[in-house]
Amino acid sequence: MLVFRTKKELSNYISSLSKNENLGLVPTMGALHTGHASLVEKAVSENNTVVVSIFVNPTQFDNKEDLAKYPNTLDADLDLLSNVSEGIVVFSPSADEVYDHKIEAKKYDFEGLDTVMEGAYRDDHFNGVGTIVEALLTLVKPNRAYFGEKDFQQLQIIRKLVEQQHIPVEIIGCPIVRETSGLAMSSRNERLSKELRQKASFIYSTLLAAKEKFGTESANYVLNWVKNQFKEHVDLELEYIEITDVETLSPVTRKNENLKYRAFIAVYAGGVRLIDNIAL
Ligand code: PAJ
Repeated sequence: MLVFRTKKELSNYISSLSKNENLGLVPTMGALHTGHASLVEKAVSENNTVVVSIFVNPTQFDNKEDLAKYPNTLDADLDLLSNVSEGIVVFSPSADEVYDHKIEAKKYDFEGLDTVMEGAYRDDHFNGVGTIVEALLTLVKPNRAYFGEKDFQQLQIIRKLVEQQHIPVEIIGCPIVRETSGLAMSSRNERLSKELRQKASFIYSTLLAAKEKFGTESANYVLNWVKNQFKEHVDLELEYIEITDVETLSPVTRKNENLKYRAFIAVYAGGVRLIDNIAL
């Protein structure tokens, strides 16, 4: 497997590929699990060459402790990727290399997609995500780039980013991969005790029940029902539950048969922040 540390090495390699070949990009921050692997597998099945970036992007962390605690498991990540395909190209740069020694986020206006939910609770988070994803897309120039619905708001923001910046790439959204309990896979799950990890499956079972209720009840009714469920759960603290239009991410007021909705949730479990979402 090829592993590049510098932009120059990677772009030289990409320039050497035939122009007729399709190139796929899967951006990650490492600590890879089966959820990431599903994106990489899809990319490998649809492209001649796949670049996986492994880079813990400092500008998208508003909480320095979260950044410091972010796991670095490069050897295990390379093993996981080589099990998917030996032909994968890995880009694993330092922050100074990516940011040319100026570690700063650009400012974007994502037309309201970035001010709700994760954007409201994590300062500047999506400016950081936009900056690194734009930099990677500009460097790699892939035909397709793959992102998980686990971070559905991020996926919609990246669709907006490529439209606003006129970046010629197809953005592919991939379904959420879950643990057997239903808990959405995340590198943060490793920080939960065994007991709490099992209890955290309550997040998904509540989303499933909310989906069913949304068939017959109003959004307000469902939101209050979810809030009450969490009030009764001593180990899990609800940060937010929202039901929004999938395109604009604006909160639903009145259900409209022609629109598609999704429920989004953020929950603290023993100090670990978990997010999930479901199509309604
Ligand atoms: P990271 O959290 O490492 O996730 C990399 C990609 O894997 C994202 O597109 C994310 O949505 C997807 N993913 C994570 N868990 C998943 C799961 N359980 N099922 C399906 N897909 C899953 O998201 C980021 O990194 C960063 O913000 C990044 C886009 C790399 C920019 O720094």
